[in-house]
Amino acid sequence: MSAILIKNGTVVNEDSMARADVLIQEGVIVDVQPSISIDSPDVRVIDATNKMVIPGGIDPHTHLQFPFMGQVAVDDFYKGTQAALAGGTTMVIDFVVGQKGTLPLDSWRQWREWADPKVCCDYGLSVAITSWSPEVAAQMAELTRPEYGINSFKFFMAYKEALMVNDDEFYEGLQVCAKIGALARVHAENGHVIHSKQKELLSQGITGPEGHTQSRPEELEAEATNRACVLAAQANCPLYVVHVMSKNAARAIAYHRQKGHVVFGEPIAAGLVLDGSGYYDRDWSKAAALVMSPPLSRDPSTPTALMDLLACGQLHLTGTDNCTFTCEQKKRGMNDFTKIPNGVNGLEDRMSLIWEKGVHTGKLDPMRFVSVTSTAAAKIFNCYPRKGKIARGSDADVVIWDPNRTRVISAATHHHANDYNVFEGMTVHGVAEITICKGKVVWENGQLNVEQGFGKYVPLMPFNNYVFASIPFKQQMSRPICVSRGDCQETPVEPTTVETTAEVNYARRGQQPAGGASSIVF
Ligand code: URP
Ligand code: ZN
Ligand code: ZN
Repeated sequence: MSAILIKNGTVVNEDSMARADVLIQEGVIVDVQPSISIDSPDVRVIDATNKMVIPGGIDPHTHLQFPFMGQVAVDDFYKGTQAALAGGTTMVIDFVVGQKGTLPLDSWRQWREWADPKVCCDYGLSVAITSWSPEVAAQMAELTRPEYGINSFKFFMAYKEALMVNDDEFYEGLQVCAKIGALARVHAENGHVIHSKQKELLSQGITGPEGHTQSRPEELEAEATNRACVLAAQANCPLYVVHVMSKNAARAIAYHRQKGHVVFGEPIAAGLVLDGSGYYDRDWSKAAALVMSPPLSRDPSTPTALMDLLACGQLHLTGTDNCTFTCEQKKRGMNDFTKIPNGVNGLEDRMSLIWEKGVHTGKLDPMRFVSVTSTAAAKIFNCYPRKGKIARGSDADVVIWDPNRTRVISAATHHHANDYNVFEGMTVHGVAEITICKGKVVWENGQLNVEQGFGKYVPLMPFNNYVFASIPFKQQMSRPICVSRGDCQETPVEPTTVETTAEVNYARRGQQPAGGASSIVF
């Protein structure tokens, strides 16, 4: 693979922004300096004058090729990762979601089989727990081993009778996550009440997409978000709330963070840009195109409010929940809104949409933009600084970003497999002019130059200090209290040594943590 020298650009990381040149060799960034000069025919020089040089985007929430609600999402791992690269995203974290009753390890194998031959960029996986048993719990632990590379599990509090787990199962799942050093992720909506409301609305003759939003009031998202935070705190488990779609759900996260709990909130491209008025469109297909869960907010001020929370740090990173179905597939729910396959696009347009609504409006600076589109995900999922940073030694996942150029989003020009785009007609500032993935120019002059299987699986390791470092302290502070009445030892007991999470984890595997052992004495 030839070397690339990017000259005269402004290198933007989450914590710095400065003029610098970037040298790439063998898929890795080998140098970042104020000025690098190399005169060799083997080095391609790219002039980035007036452009920004940013880490490739990481989308932590995709559903490529997902079999869901009787359909299979049309963006498979080939089309989906092409769309990602065209928009400046160079890594995705996809969800393994097995049907109820399937075992997580089998589902993980299935997703690898689907993804490996098709991915054009690197990818990681996050595994959904859709049923509960001691065997599932044991497999969760197994999946955190390096050969499987899973450090997060997702629980659905919605989709009753399909993917949903009940509170007792969720709580036990959270306890297992805490023990094995995995981040718990949650789809927070009250699935029981939604199920009842769906039946009520259908019995009243409301069968169109407007029934989707009416069956899922925002309060049911906020209530479940609060409940998820409470249960995670009770289990002393870090929590990541996916697709935060409403102000009150975001407020619940902020409230629990203020109380000292480890909670991350992920708004998605659609929720940061669109509101839910479209569910009442007289054109069935236009309304059905927007059907996703939780639904877009009925409050038109929500998208800006979510962006404000992202700007001030109460929400932490952005995903897309990219899960695309064609108009024809959506028509499965023509006579019953509960059968419309849920999901929208976003993977190609996320970076530009966030630039437009966040940076162009003056809410985010370019460094915060890099954080919420890339670096925060790399840190939360434990692949930083390999990903999410322009620095020596990092993977050469680099985007030459033109902050001044505009483009118009359209299904006629997008790289997704579906036949509409929920952002159709929007003009956005901020365009990925060149995308470099692992040292290869894969997007340039509006053309993709990709190879199926070029991307590789990135194992994500548990007990990530960025997420877990406070957990043993919290555990120590909340240990059970025994009042001595002659039958047990009064607490607090003698100072105890709490081993750091990394040590416990590595000891379990018979390995030594990198950087040597450490322990904390209370
Ligand atoms: O509507 C959505 N969000 N579809 C994908 C599945 C999920 O809930 O994440
Ligand atoms: Zn979800
Ligand atoms: Zn999702």
